[in-house]
This record gives sequence, structure tokens and C-alpha cells, in this order.
Amino acid sequence: MGHRLGTKLQSAAVTETLFHQDPHPGAPAAVAHPKGIKSYVRRAGRTTSGQAKALEDLGPRYVLDYAAAPLDTTAAFGRTAPLVLEIGFGMGEATAHIAGVRPGDNFLCCEVHEPGVGALLKRIGEQGLTNIRILQHDAVEVLEHMLAPESLTGVHIFFPDPWHKKRHNKRRLIQPPLVARLASRLKPGGYIHCATDWQPYAEQMLQVLSAEPQLANTAPGYAPKPDYRPLTKFENRGLRLGHGVWDLVFTRR
Ligand SMILES: C[S@@+](CC[C@H](N)C(=O)[O-])C[C@H]1O[C@@H](n2cnc3c(N)ncnc32)[C@H](O)[C@@H]1O
Repeated sequence: MGHRLGTKLQSAAVTETLFHQDPHPGAPAAVAHPKGIKSYVRRAGRTTSGQAKALEDLGPRYVLDYAAAPLDTTAAFGRTAPLVLEIGFGMGEATAHIAGVRPGDNFLCCEVHEPGVGALLKRIGEQGLTNIRILQHDAVEVLEHMLAPESLTGVHIFFPDPWHKKRHNKRRLIQPPLVARLASRLKPGGYIHCATDWQPYAEQMLQVLSAEPQLANTAPGYAPKPDYRPLTKFENRGLRLGHGVWDLVFTRR
């Protein structure tokens, strides 16, 4: 997915709806995700015939139902293995690559955009991946209701929607309450890996993650890109144009 294209669509939709949804207009950005504010908008998007076929053929095996109850991950994956949560996988390019190079880990991947779910299922089929399960649901609710404290080995949040405009900053995922919740779901030694190509958001990530007492930075500031995270098509294009990308990797104390 083109992030900037996605952002344009979001901005258009949000201009219409945000003020009706926002119970605290003007609240400081740091008190994030008050009731009713989501980190995404449901975008219209065409599901291709290949994605639709993948949804039909592979959805029943790899897409889990959301429930406000703890997830039995051993039953969901058919095995016990370290569990990594991914929030917002887009079209699943990085997700499928990482699951392929880390076959010993289970990946629980959240995305609300249906064509993206179809696209990842298509990759699962093409690459014969068995260690991914998908939840087509708000990851904030998944985290709150389906994942027990100290159940995760890792969290991946790659290029989350930057919500460029100041009045939309409150929609950003990486804010203190969500980071505290994420940290509580990590096992001691587990990690949170974020990446962004939007410098002001990178700075916010560094500030919020550094301020969370349960977490320690693995680097003096931004981290070198871990080998498992691939350079996606979008990112390569940005790098060719001279845009920066910032990785952050923190571990649970
Ligand atoms: C800018 S895209 C990045 C996608 C992908 N990680 C990449 O690097 O290409 C962000 C994605 O996060 C998804 N998203 C945002 N908030 C979410 C949430 N709370 N739960 C699940 N998905 C979410 C959006 O639907 C969107 O597809």
C-alpha cells in the first residue's frame, strides 16, 4: 500500500467524520485513544479477484474470529511457539517475508483493511506459510481482550499511519497508554520493534517508548534495522528519493 496515498484517503474521510467522533476536541496528543477515536479509518478499497479467492479458500484456516476473551494460541496455531503480534500489516509484504525467515515463531497479525487481509492470505498460499494467523479487527481491542499479560515475545508496528496533521495526531498508535499495555503483554526480555518514515512520528516514538518504565532501549537512540525486516517496495522507492527511515527496538525489563 502506498502510505502517502493511504494517508490522503484517510485525511479526506477524517475531515468529514473526526469532529463527530472526537469527544475531546483539543485534548493533548499524549492522552491517546479516548473512547471513539480509532487509529484507522475504514477505507474503501477494491478487493482483487486473487485476494477474494484467497479470502474464500484460505480465510477459514488462517483468519481467526475476534472475541472479547483470551485467545488459546496453541489451538489457534496448532503448536506452541514464541508469539509475535503485528499491528497493521497493510498488504502483508513484510509480514510474509518475516514469517518465512523465522519459521520457529508464531505471528498473530492484525489488520482492518479487507484487501490487505486477502493479499496476506494470497502470500500465505503462494509461500506455503503455516505460522501466521490473522485477526481482521482493531488491534487495540485484540490487545486488551485476547492477549494475556506476559504472553508475547515481540510486537511489530511497521510504518503505522502517521496522521500528519496536528489535530489528527491523537489517532497515532504509539502513545503512552497503548505502549504501557503493549509492554505489559510482553514477556520479560520480549521486544517492541517500530519503524516509520515520518520524522516527527519517529521522535514521538522515541520519546514515548523511552518514557515507559517497563521498557529499555536496545540502542542509544534509533536502532539499526534488524535483518529480519525487509526493505519493502515502498521503502526502497522512498530511500531512492532520499527519505529517511527510523527503526526503534525496545525490550521489556
Ligand atoms: C500505513 S499502513 C502500513 C502497512 C504496513 N505495515 C507497511 O509497512 O506497509 C498502516 C496500516 O495499519 C492499519 N491499522 C491502523 N490502525 C490499526 C489498528 N488499530 N488495528 C489494526 N490495523 C490497524 C491500517 O489499516 C493500515 O493498513
